[in-house]
Amino acid sequence: MRIRRAAPSDADALSRLARDVAAEPGGWLLTLGTWRSTSDERRAIRLLRRHPDAAIFVAETDEGIIGRLSLTRDHHPSSQHVADIGLMVASGYRRRGVGRALLETAVEWARSSGVSKLELHVFPHNEAAIKLYESFGFEREGYRNRHYRRGQEYVDAILMAYFVTG
Ligand SMILES: CC(C)(COP(=O)(O)OP(=O)(O)OC[C@H]1O[C@@H](n2cnc3c(N)ncnc32)[C@H](O)[C@@H]1OP(=O)(O)O)[C@@H](O)C(=O)NCCC(=O)NCCS
Repeated sequence: MRIRRAAPSDADALSRLARDVAAEPGGWLLTLGTWRSTSDERRAIRLLRRHPDAAIFVAETDEGIIGRLSLTRDHHPSSQHVADIGLMVASGYRRRGVGRALLETAVEWARSSGVSKLELHVFPHNEAAIKLYESFGFEREGYRNRHYRRGQEYVDAILMAYFVTG
């Protein structure tokens, strides 16, 4: 398994991965079975490859792309030391350390970008993700009631954060 910055040619595989994960009955993502189109994904990757404050990484094997990590630094001048992260691993490749490896990549990116705090939102029912984040060292910072609109309903989210040292 290798992890590298996403290239525009990954757009199709990344869109498919996200659509597949979004369509899982567990409801792990904000979107419900939809994702941006391949061309929008390609545009986003192109833009981010030149952008110092955001990045998309992919995890891949010889069989193709199996994971995605996205990082976006906060815009506000007072919180530019904070970046938001999102990740997903293809269902057939979970519990093999890919998610943890993507989080390690997030920490490396943070160190090289001057980011000292990584944050994320996770749905309370997403036990796998919460276990991953807590085992990695993320701490719960708050519980956000009805924070997101998902389809026709409002859903809660746990806010978690990791302080980058070194
Ligand atoms: C959450 C997710 C990214 C975890 O990725 P992963 O590659 O399976 O995670 P890892 O194999 O690196 O797991 C590392 C540790 O996290 C914990 N963990 C991960 N999945 C778990 C599960 N299903 N049940 C219990 N613990 C789990 C374990 O402590 C695990 O270590 P171990 O396997 O040695 O016991 C993956 O399940 C996923 O993509 N889910 C759907 C999308 C999603 O939820 N994204 C996050 C939205 S906030």
